[in-house]
Formats: sequence, structure tokens, C-alpha cells
Amino acid sequence: MAGRENKSSRYERILAHARELVAGLPGPISRMSTIAALLHHKMPGLSWTGFYLLEDGQLVVGPYQGLVACPVLDKHRGVCWAGILRNETVIVPDVQAFPGHIACDSRSKSEIVVPLRRRDGAVAGVLDVDSTRIGWFDEADAAGLAPLANLVHAEPGERKPEKGSHA
Ligand code: SME
Repeated sequence: MAGRENKSSRYERILAHARELVAGLPGPISRMSTIAALLHHKMPGLSWTGFYLLEDGQLVVGPYQGLVACPVLDKHRGVCWAGILRNETVIVPDVQAFPGHIACDSRSKSEIVVPLRRRDGAVAGVLDVDSTRIGWFDEADAAGLAPLANLVHAEPGERKPEKGSHA
């Protein structure tokens, strides 16, 4: 895909669409499923797009798009755990150069992980995105993915009134 500008404007369109789709969805599962599908099919270059969630101290796979992923990640190892432990976005240009990287899909060459936060700020998991191309992710992805991750636990939006209702 050409340039950072192009990527950023695509993220803006995806975010606007995601906001519409998740407005009125009460729970995180339906929101994560919707965001993963939208992102995976609207943003070029992604081979795996989904969520890992903290459950009883383990990082367990959540809604995703792509090949079947590792269901539970080895504790405190790999890129997803790095995002949790550092409590920040982690961009990995070359997964083979990242100590402890967990290869669920051997075609994956680069990766970005964005912490998923609850409304009180506590980390609930990560949004994890892979590409089969080396160096695919940059600051434009970090900036574009953070508001999408934040939608998962955002206040439920107003539902659009049904046709014919007197809202
Ligand atoms: N590569 C990740 C594991 C999850 S998959 O990319 C879907 C990691 O190192 O944590």
C-alpha cells in the first residue's frame, strides 16, 4: 500500500465504520468480532487480526480472523505478552528478530500489538495484527489501531431509532 497518508485515511474510514457498527452493541465479544472482521477485510496486508484476552492470568485467544491461532500463549513470552507487560503498543518489524516470538503461523513476518483497556484503564488483553510482509507496521498503524481497540470497552452508543419509531 502506498504511503503513510493512505494508511491513515484508511484507518479513519475503518474507525468511522466500526463506530457505526458497534453503536448499540452492549458486549465486548460482539464488538471484538465486528472490529476484527472489519479490519481484516478492509485493511490490506493483514494475515491475522484478532484479540488475546487475560483470563485468570493466562492470555487466551478471543475473536479473530485468519488461520487457526494458538489458543493459549506461553506465559510472559512473545509479542502479545510484551504488550501486556510493558502496557504499551509493540511494533515488531521482523518477528524472527524478536526474542520469544510465538509463531502460530509460520508465514507471519511482522506484527503489532496494542493493549486493550477497560474503562477504568486496566489492561484486559491485546489487539494483535500480523502480516506476511517484513516491516509492514509503523506508527500510522499504532495510531490507527489504538482507537479501534478502545471501542471494545467504550460506553454503549445510542441506537439509531427504528424506522417508524417516535424516538
Ligand atoms: N505472535 C504472537 C502470538 C499470537 S499470533 O501472532 C496470532 C506472540 O508472539 O505473542
